[in-house]
Amino acid sequence: MSGGENARRRFLLSLGALAVSTRLHAQPRFASYPFSLGVASGYPTPDSVVLWTRLTGELAPAAIPVRWEVFAEESLSTAVASGQALADPLWAHSVHVEAKGLGPERWYWYRFSAGDAQSAVGRTRTAPRAAATAPRLRFAFASCQQYEQGYYGAYRHIVADAPDLVAFLGDYIYESSWGRELVRSHASGETYTLADYRARYALYRSDPDLQAAHAACPWIVTWDDHEVDNDYADDRPEDGMEREPFLERRAAAYRAYYEHMPLPPRMRPDGPNMRIYTHLDWGALARFYVLDDRQYRSWHACPRPQRRAGSNTVDIERCARLTAPGRSILGRAQERWLDGELAGSRAAWNVIAQQTRMAQFDTKPGPGRHAWTDAWDGYPAARQRLLDSFKKTSNPVVIGGDVHTFYANQLKLNFDDPASPVVASEFVTTSITSQSWAQERLNQYLPDNPHILLSESRFRGYTRVDVSPARMQVDLRGMESVQRRDASCRTLASFVVDNGIPGPVRA
Ligand SMILES: [Fe+2]
Repeated sequence: MSGGENARRRFLLSLGALAVSTRLHAQPRFASYPFSLGVASGYPTPDSVVLWTRLTGELAPAAIPVRWEVFAEESLSTAVASGQALADPLWAHSVHVEAKGLGPERWYWYRFSAGDAQSAVGRTRTAPRAAATAPRLRFAFASCQQYEQGYYGAYRHIVADAPDLVAFLGDYIYESSWGRELVRSHASGETYTLADYRARYALYRSDPDLQAAHAACPWIVTWDDHEVDNDYADDRPEDGMEREPFLERRAAAYRAYYEHMPLPPRMRPDGPNMRIYTHLDWGALARFYVLDDRQYRSWHACPRPQRRAGSNTVDIERCARLTAPGRSILGRAQERWLDGELAGSRAAWNVIAQQTRMAQFDTKPGPGRHAWTDAWDGYPAARQRLLDSFKKTSNPVVIGGDVHTFYANQLKLNFDDPASPVVASEFVTTSITSQSWAQERLNQYLPDNPHILLSESRFRGYTRVDVSPARMQVDLRGMESVQRRDASCRTLASFVVDNGIPGPVRA
């Protein structure tokens, strides 16, 4: 990793001009409202939760003290936890507080203040105690919110559902502009520098519906490619950029990601390296494995001619590299970690929260098979290893995004063998706004993929999950439109998974 180490050093040097954070600005006066990006929380445990905000505006290049308070009642009568954090200009004046000493399985309210300014009030929730059998968990998951392609009305419906938790599975921002019938603009080009990425996050986070969803409950998050660059893999971008400058770009992108997400301080990036994969327990009811399938993945097999990396649709007979056993989508360390966590879990439900589609999806009608190399189809040996480790896990359920389409899939040890057992369920959520393939195109592939029970690309929206010890219910929620903020949303289809019986069943 000497190249990565160089990129890290050069990136830190490029931050040097800002390195004045030892100065403290104790009595700040703000020319504009400094909490314009709202508040957020995340990563709840039975006694703690991460609280986030970021100060904005024309701020002095000095650390600014920010006071935080947590309340047990919505009336905000008595603070049950409080403290002071420093908003450091090196980290874009963001604040990541681990509020500790809280009680398990209950709602809390929180707010920040700096100078004479006060933030909006956020609501958050702690997880149940490890041994507690939480009777119920309700969560939503979402992905892919290209800002220009629509409004974030889906979040209004998520807020109305009042979930305990939101899982965001990648493409929180888009580094570039694309699509048709745009409703708003990035008003700037593709992001490369730290300033570019910071401005892009600030733009996305200015959206009131997105802010309301962050303020409504804790989130857990992972990224996909567009938080950095389309279709990147580890240290290799899609286009001709060399490794060193690309790692500097990745360092800038990861840093801006950290600065804008309610991530625990332990996830703070070190140059182009940032460990975000982790697990989160919801009592004895559920465990989430939040994975990172971008940072450590093997380069794409058989990219298009003239490309160094990037997705491609390949004929599996003509891409020998695809099936090489050493190829990994999670990287060796994360694979080992996940295998151990799955084997050691005592949770009734094991939810694998990752970026993309895991089930095989043959896009060559008739004999033969085509595979899209950016999803798990590009890493079949790694998928097989994970499916094998599911055999020793209670109720594995994979959730994903990326493909801007709802899918409900049976995950099978051998997708080509109708008699092969189903070992897990998979639900892929559609995008919040990002545009998709035509439904007619998907329909022609379905006869070759009998393990795919549903494939629906016509709607933007989110997925709602209700977990109890006996069963998981999954509602696919489709927006009438993303051209208006106040569009309606309806349940397009519902599936259940019964405890002990892998695979989705239409409700
Ligand atoms: Fe996307």
